[in-house]
Amino acid sequence: MYEHVKNLHSYFAYFVLLILIIAVANAIIGFATNKKFVSKDLRISLFALIFTHLQLLIGLILYFISPFGMKMISTNGMGGMTSAQRLLALEHPFIVIIAIVLITIGWSKHKKQQTDKRAFGKIAFFYGLGLLLILSRLPWSQWLGL
Ligand code: HEM
Ligand code: HEM
Repeated sequence: MYEHVKNLHSYFAYFVLLILIIAVANAIIGFATNKKFVSKDLRISLFALIFTHLQLLIGLILYFISPFGMKMISTNGMGGMTSAQRLLALEHPFIVIIAIVLITIGWSKHKKQQTDKRAFGKIAFFYGLGLLLILSRLPWSQWLGL
């Protein structure tokens, strides 16, 4: 069970990052060039939201069954972890959840904007900030085997 969920989380991460990068780039271009916010833009932003929410769900499950999630904290205590252990058990989940909240806020806010430029602006800002936070707290070396 653990191996399957971990592999799913690990491979799904590529799609999440890819679609988020596409959504942020699309929104920045739309904002900067005063494009109309058409259904293609809606779909890209919605796909990015759905993928991050799915990854949130998988991540939450993983957190409870992985030896590097909650179990690590209960065994070693908050102060007894190495920095690599703290990244997996604490920093990655915590910061990434904040990032997903920001992305969800961006999705909600873009719907209420009066102009297309402002709709692109909300996606660009909130998704962009979320993406940066996610990138800052990924276990890169473990993930890519560096
Ligand atoms: C722990 C799991 C999850 C939490 C806490 C969560 C939370 C939320 C919240 C708070 C919103 C509100 C956004 C708004 O105000 O418009 C939302 C929207 C949404 N979520 Fe999730 N979600 C979760 C899992 C999922 C999953 C697994 C999927 C899809 C497979 C999903 C798909 C969506 C979609 C499509 C919307 C946008 C609805 C719309 O505005 O049209 N979520 N989610
Ligand atoms: C956009 C959202 C997320 C992305 C892109 C992401 C990405 C990743 C990646 C790339 C890894 C390394 C996988 C490997 O070593 O092969 C990982 C590990 C992990 N993630 Fe996430 N994650 C996300 C959200 C979450 C959330 C919300 C949680 C928990 C609440 C979570 C919990 C974990 C845990 C516990 C591990 C360590 C698993 C282990 O090695 O046993 N992740 N994540």
